[in-house]
Amino acid sequence: MTTTADELREQVRRRYAEAAVAAELGGCGCTDDGGCCGNVACDGEAASFGAALYEDEQLGELPEAALLASLGCGNPTAVAELREGETVLDLGSGGGIDVILSAKRVGPTGVAYGLDMTDEMLALAQRNAREAGIANAHFLKGVIEQIPLPASSVDVVISNCVINLSVDKSAVLAEIGRVLKPGGRVGISDVVAENDLAPEDRAQRGSYVGCIAGVLSAGEYEAGLEAAGLEDVSVEFTHQVADGMHGAIVKATKARESARAPLPLARSAATAGCC
Ligand SMILES: C[S@@+](CC[C@H](N)C(=O)[O-])C[C@H]1O[C@@H](n2cnc3c(N)ncnc32)[C@H](O)[C@@H]1O
Repeated sequence: MTTTADELREQVRRRYAEAAVAAELGGCGCTDDGGCCGNVACDGEAASFGAALYEDEQLGELPEAALLASLGCGNPTAVAELREGETVLDLGSGGGIDVILSAKRVGPTGVAYGLDMTDEMLALAQRNAREAGIANAHFLKGVIEQIPLPASSVDVVISNCVINLSVDKSAVLAEIGRVLKPGGRVGISDVVAENDLAPEDRAQRGSYVGCIAGVLSAGEYEAGLEAAGLEDVSVEFTHQVADGMHGAIVKATKARESARAPLPLARSAATAGCC
């Protein structure tokens, strides 16, 4: 029996709702049926997933429940070089770890948005942000394939181990291109396959909800971001998570609009004193 996109998304939502509830109780909701993107509370893969990928100094700034719900595969706040006053958007914000860290980096004149489709994660993230004393973080309910923010409204898009879970990855990449301001940046952590690993082989390495079966290859990521109007795209493998699959940092920039529209031909020719 084949699974439809809606069923797959519902499996993902249910799994991460369980993980959010378990994190609040101090445990792991990810043990059965392929797990989630792993975390320290759930397995021994501490070096590949979750809170182990953050600096000690950053961990000290975070509530315990945010650490327990950390289900990422990197540390996008470390690569995004956030600046005071910027607007940041975290796709699939989970328990809010990267939104809280981003909100601190951009300061009171900046804003950090977290977008997630799972009510339990949104509630957990809101509690964690309150506990961390953060006032410039806002959590939005929605799907990353249809971002509920206007075009050209965000300086930096980050995401941590979420895009591999999307049932329509080209829609996500197109939405990133839409919401970024000209000159805006992308700093994503995700699991990424080597280019020669076919989709069937990726599916053999682990489950979809566990952030393995649905991953893009490096070449697919690059092509998708370029098709979405981004440039200077790079995919850098940081640590192996399965045979032929790696935690990776994906970076890109949205082109700046040219400073001035080209002059109509007749006028530019006249200005140049030509012909
Ligand atoms: C692996 S967890 C990562 C959470 C967080 N980024 C972190 O580092 O801890 C995946 C999160 O993405 C959310 N998610 C998955 N697919 C989504 C989609 N299509 N739209 C919105 N949220 C999604 C889940 O609800 C979950 O909170």
